[in-house]
Amino acid sequence: MDIDSIGSFRALVVDRDADGRQLPAALRTVTLDDLPTWPDDGDVVVDVAYSSLNYKDGLAVLGKGTVLRRFPIVPGIDLAGTVRAVADGTDGDVRVGDAVLVTGWGIGETWSGGYGAVARVRSGWIVPLPEGLDARTAMAFGTAGFTAALAVTALEDHGVRPGDGDIVVTGAAGGVGSIAVALLAAAGYRVLASTGRPQEGDYLRALGAADVIDRAVLGGGPAQPLDKARYAGAVDSVGGATLAALLAQTGVHGAVASCGLAGGSELHTTVFPFILRGVSVLGIDSNTCPMDKRRAAWARLARDVPRDRLDDVTAVRPLGDIVALAEAILAGGVRGRVVVDVNA
Ligand SMILES: NC(=O)c1ccc[n+]([C@@H]2O[C@H](COP(=O)([O-])OP(=O)(O)OC[C@H]3O[C@@H](n4cnc5c(N)ncnc54)[C@H](OP(=O)(O)O)[C@@H]3O)[C@@H](O)[C@H]2O)c1
Repeated sequence: MDIDSIGSFRALVVDRDADGRQLPAALRTVTLDDLPTWPDDGDVVVDVAYSSLNYKDGLAVLGKGTVLRRFPIVPGIDLAGTVRAVADGTDGDVRVGDAVLVTGWGIGETWSGGYGAVARVRSGWIVPLPEGLDARTAMAFGTAGFTAALAVTALEDHGVRPGDGDIVVTGAAGGVGSIAVALLAAAGYRVLASTGRPQEGDYLRALGAADVIDRAVLGGGPAQPLDKARYAGAVDSVGGATLAALLAQTGVHGAVASCGLAGGSELHTTVFPFILRGVSVLGIDSNTCPMDKRRAAWARLARDVPRDRLDDVTAVRPLGDIVALAEAILAGGVRGRVVVDVNA
């Protein structure tokens, strides 16, 4: 692979000043050598067609928390496109022209990610696009959809079955939540969608929710260490007091798949849900998820989420809109999923 022949390309770049303060993200023309990429050389170069917007991307672009680890860097924890070049001696069966996606593994955090027209990645991170998914559709799912698939599969693997009772999805109108509602409904579960946006009730019912509850019902935390058991399981994007309430209200041998922290990262609970009801917390980490589970989750998304439902939750926006979108997602104002057309 001759990196010099890749040339320059357009990307959203984040840098910091001499005092280490993150500067506003800006569209720039760069080369791969300007950017931190794996493993300093990288073994596969991808022409990126689409990326997506996740909550973590919002944090990264706006410099909240410590998502970005190197500078200058191209954010974007997801990408999908076509393999342009493969270094000699690269492991695996990646070939020039393959349609591929990459999520996580530190892209858009430690290594440059999807908000540019070209990305250099490690071959071991690559998932071939599953049958039935093109690059745009894959990014309509993105890390959020992938995480939802991991969460739903974790509940099933734990033994939670559709007949066991309701499954509540928190942050339901967001990216993880929307896809989780659709996947659970497709698998036959009765889904309660918890949202702070009652105006999205019709949207959530169209996705497959049987009922919609106000986020305040769970957001105040548990009334007592063990509340009345209401749910067989949960997919939680919110964390904090909401997660504590879910644990106290999950029934015997139920489970809560903990995915996110949109409402808070702290968890104050007691051991009673664990030792008196056998409730489990299932930790979900999409970033470092092993490849066999990754491929299975992507195959599930391709197979189980009706395409018209996915289209209903997806908006496509140009790269230049990312900063405004980052502000919107951190304010809880993005519905469903945003696909980023990196060449628009
Ligand atoms: N574990 C992993 O591997 C993984 C992967 C992807 C994402 N995540 C995490 O999962 C969470 C959701 O990510 P996402 O990309 O789906 O983000 P998103 O699209 O912004 O969805 C988050 C949703 O949470 C709700 N929410 C926002 N602020 C809230 C608050 N202060 N209190 C209660 N609810 C609030 C909103 O839903 P309503 O309007 O419906 O209430 C919002 O749409 C984030 O914390 C993200 O970091 C984790």
